[in-house]
Amino acid sequence: MERTARAAGKVILLGEHAVVYGAPALAAALDRGAVARARPSEQSRITLGTQPAVDGEESELGRAFAALRASLGAPPHEVTAELELPPGCGLGASAALGVAIARAVLLAAEPDTELGSGGADARVLEAAAAWEGVFHGRASGVDAAAAASRGCIRFSKSEGTEPVHAARALPVVIAVAGPPASTREMVEGVARLRARRPEVVDKAVAAIGALVQNARLCIEAGDLPGLGKLMDLNQMLLSGLMVSTEGIERACAAARSAGALGAKLTGAGGGGCVVALADLDPKPVLAAFEREGLACFAATIGGEEAA
Ligand code: PMV
Repeated sequence: MERTARAAGKVILLGEHAVVYGAPALAAALDRGAVARARPSEQSRITLGTQPAVDGEESELGRAFAALRASLGAPPHEVTAELELPPGCGLGASAALGVAIARAVLLAAEPDTELGSGGADARVLEAAAAWEGVFHGRASGVDAAAAASRGCIRFSKSEGTEPVHAARALPVVIAVAGPPASTREMVEGVARLRARRPEVVDKAVAAIGALVQNARLCIEAGDLPGLGKLMDLNQMLLSGLMVSTEGIERACAAARSAGALGAKLTGAGGGGCVVALADLDPKPVLAAFEREGLACFAATIGGEEAA
């Protein structure tokens, strides 16, 4: 029988890159994400949006699908999946696909599965990690954790996911600040910098970890101006890790001059998206991004659903 499942996209509020080296990160699920349909079939085959179907392991997509199925121990399946997010921009598109596909395949292969139960969710996360591993190499797991959750979360490699209750909803505006870069290449760039200058990267990782702890307190206390300042500081540290671009800096500056409380890149950087924290009304920030010619949308994070 065909089964359908969804997963959320995500925005990293603070902590990307440092999370790869063990620091915590704060992320939040977005309403937009991915939807997948799966049914058992004689041969495995995956179709992504309007792209041609892939039925072997000669492409990354085929290898990622094979790794996901192997992790679930699932027989061959036919899958179609669609994205509701721009891909490769730091909004967790590939993790949302991995989680949605793993959920749909698990439901189709084992119809008695109850999503939301610890065992099923752990298998979905493991399968999504196998999928992400093919695209991203050294993924921390923050994307898949956010794709499988609701509201705001704290994630670290050693401690996993912990829900964070937002005392006030966070009005954010997300803009595509430039052509996306490969997450794997950006993560490898930081690893190369660390090999050359370990003290620079290790200090930045520790400082970002401290910002994340403080940002969590701000979110829990509803202190939006405080959170915005910490996002700006995180952006400075990310620039020091060489993952920002002129386009990202311009977009952040435009958001701040339109009244945003803070702005930074989100995801791997090198292009892709920025996230700005609006001061109640997102419209002036949306207008500022639009004046820069950037595609953008507003989203609300946390509040009552982030229990
Ligand atoms: O997949 P992206 O572009 O949202 O970036 C993921 C965040 C990184 O910290 C850069 C990588 C990771 O695996 O945590």
